Amino acid sequence: MTTASVRLPAQFIHPFAPAGRADPYPAYRWLQANDPVHHDEASRLWLVTGHADCATVLRDPRFSAAQGQRERARDDALPTSMLTTDPPDHHRLRAPGMLLLGPAAVRALLPALAADVDRLLDRLAAAGRADAAAELGRPLATAVFARLFDLPPGELGRFETLARAASINLDPMVPPARAALGRTAATALTRYLDVHAADLTRRQAPSPLAALAADDRLARAEMLGILSLAVIGGWQPLAEAVGNALHTLLPDRAAVRRLAGADEEAARLAVDELLRLQAPIPFTARVTTEPVQLAGGPLPAGARVLAVLCAANRDPAVFAEPEELRLDRHPNPHLGFGGGPHFCLAAPLVRQVLALLLPRLLRRFPALTGPSGAPDWDQCLVPRRLRSFPLELNSALGEAC
Ligand code: HEM
Repeated sequence: MTTASVRLPAQFIHPFAPAGRADPYPAYRWLQANDPVHHDEASRLWLVTGHADCATVLRDPRFSAAQGQRERARDDALPTSMLTTDPPDHHRLRAPGMLLLGPAAVRALLPALAADVDRLLDRLAAAGRADAAAELGRPLATAVFARLFDLPPGELGRFETLARAASINLDPMVPPARAALGRTAATALTRYLDVHAADLTRRQAPSPLAALAADDRLARAEMLGILSLAVIGGWQPLAEAVGNALHTLLPDRAAVRRLAGADEEAARLAVDELLRLQAPIPFTARVTTEPVQLAGGPLPAGARVLAVLCAANRDPAVFAEPEELRLDRHPNPHLGFGGGPHFCLAAPLVRQVLALLLPRLLRRFPALTGPSGAPDWDQCLVPRRLRSFPLELNSALGEAC
């Protein structure tokens, strides 16, 4: 099979180039329309941008997640877990993961999480302004993990430092020196979780982590791999999802009012729409185990493929007026949580937590505004995140509302 030779026209900045990272969507849109299974010569990756093709990449067993993780840009693989394995090992690891993140575990945590959100908003009220990530997203993500892992209040700072440092390698294209720091932090995180899990077991303290640690279907290293994946794959995407969502939402004041008054079901729909438009995990990797013919073009065996989820999420073949925010979009088959066997195990938790936070935040601060001017997107490819997003909690808008 010959390598496709289609080139991105010069007026589009490559989505991985430093200047293209702030707004990768025009380039992805061009690829989706003109070369939906695109061989990117610079990275030697195949970029799959159509919704139907991305769904196939995520579901079809000829696309290996295990090899996709192993063949990331550098040798900094995520810990062994359900995300780094294919069937049948994948199912063996994912099934016990439900003890940590399944519906029963999530339901039991909701009252405590609602109280955590209220306390967080109380703290913000006192300050008057806040950065969406530093003062809202990160404390929220840490509070969620504190409940899942039963972390004592005195440990939250340490956990957050470890989680942040270990998240560096979510981005497969960070420079090698930073990647090395991320590897060291991931090792320290695993050691920390090991000691903490042993402590919970000794104290017989009930929590989702304690339930997972007690499950004899998993070897200790496997259990720790799942915990580390949850932190590395979940803490920062959840933290950054808050700023990404507010960046999309706040300019649309009618949508702000609608979400402020939304019931739980409407809030969950809104969360999905906000994740569709600014997916914190914009793509995920697979490797083909044999040649595959996708609707958008052929792939050879051994192809390193990126399912570009953020492009699929704006595919006009699936989403009417795909660039538009429609809080009540339904159905909304976005791929922000992936799809198929590796579908985000924490999707119900993430939806619930964001659906708890956003309406409460908007009711508490009806005149909440973000910064005017060009958004300050970080260079980091995964997760997609705003470097800063200062929020004015009681802006002059309040007088007009
Ligand atoms: C907004 C926040 C989040 C987003 C956008 C997100 C997105 C994703 C995506 C796209 C995948 C699929 C990756 C692939 O197919 O290669 C995934 C898998 C996963 N996520 Fe999330 N995630 C989020 C938060 C979390 C959190 C908070 C946790 C844990 C507490 C978590 C745990 C997992 C796990 C365990 C998997 C692997 C499932 C498997 O391989 O079977 N995620 N997530």
